[in-house]
Amino acid sequence: MEGLFQEIDKDIIRCNWLDFPDKENYLFVKNIVKEIRFNNKAILINKFIGKNDTKRKAAKKLLEFGLMIGKPVSQSRNLDFIGKVEEKKYPQNQKVERGYKSNCELKFHNDRCDIVALLCYQKASSGGETKLVSCNKVFSILKKKYPESLNIHMSNFPQDLRDSAFGKWAEMPIFSIVNNELITRYVRRFIEASQLIEDCPRLTSLQVKALDHLDEVLNIKDIHNNFTLKPGDLLIFNNHKFLHGRTEFTDSITQKRLLYRLWLSYDQSEQLPKSFKPVFMNTSSGKYRGGVWPNNVKRRFII
Ligand SMILES: [Fe+2]
Repeated sequence: MEGLFQEIDKDIIRCNWLDFPDKENYLFVKNIVKEIRFNNKAILINKFIGKNDTKRKAAKKLLEFGLMIGKPVSQSRNLDFIGKVEEKKYPQNQKVERGYKSNCELKFHNDRCDIVALLCYQKASSGGETKLVSCNKVFSILKKKYPESLNIHMSNFPQDLRDSAFGKWAEMPIFSIVNNELITRYVRRFIEASQLIEDCPRLTSLQVKALDHLDEVLNIKDIHNNFTLKPGDLLIFNNHKFLHGRTEFTDSITQKRLLYRLWLSYDQSEQLPKSFKPVFMNTSSGKYRGGVWPNNVKRRFII
């Protein structure tokens, strides 16, 4: 089984879906979970869907795959368990609420879940490169290069919560060590957006400098992986251990970028810092947590 995983880079391993004759074999899933959770690897699975698979079939396959690993969480206030990452055309007077519904560059960030799975159905006419960086790698470079900033990263930063049940803002660190594991949560635009909230603590100049140092390290070319997902590619990674982003893209009339996205909770997930509660609702290991939900619904997977 392990021989089927091929190392592309220290942080990413690749395998071919067609090499697994028995997809229902839970040994395969167990190995995927082991690599993601305990070996800090991201996995790129080629040929997960075939050229002739319809959109509906692709989404269904992704969901079935996810259900072997854990349980999907909602990705929007519309209770989407399979998100469509694509450029959505909005009326001119309506602003794009979520970055994944635009064609813009998305800077390195974490999502709001334990595991992210991205299935490419169609790539863009141009651009739309996926970017992935190991948080352990970033942390060790910061430790050598900017140790004074790393101490600041490990203390609280204000964040815009976008009207969660916990209020408008909360404070949490970018890097935390919990049970000897590094846990990362970084979305710079939420940190910056918090400054528009009246009663939120102001960022200090040292905090802003620390954010700049982090971005500088994130942009060191040698440390991150840039690649274009091809139709049929499925990328799966631990959201607490990798930061991800993408470059801007352009669609053509005949070629529109479309990724199907799954956010998962699973039994083997790590303990999160207590300060993550406003984002994840539950920080205990293995709990159903995270996601973006409509107000006043019971948080559970339904389809
Ligand atoms: Fe994301």
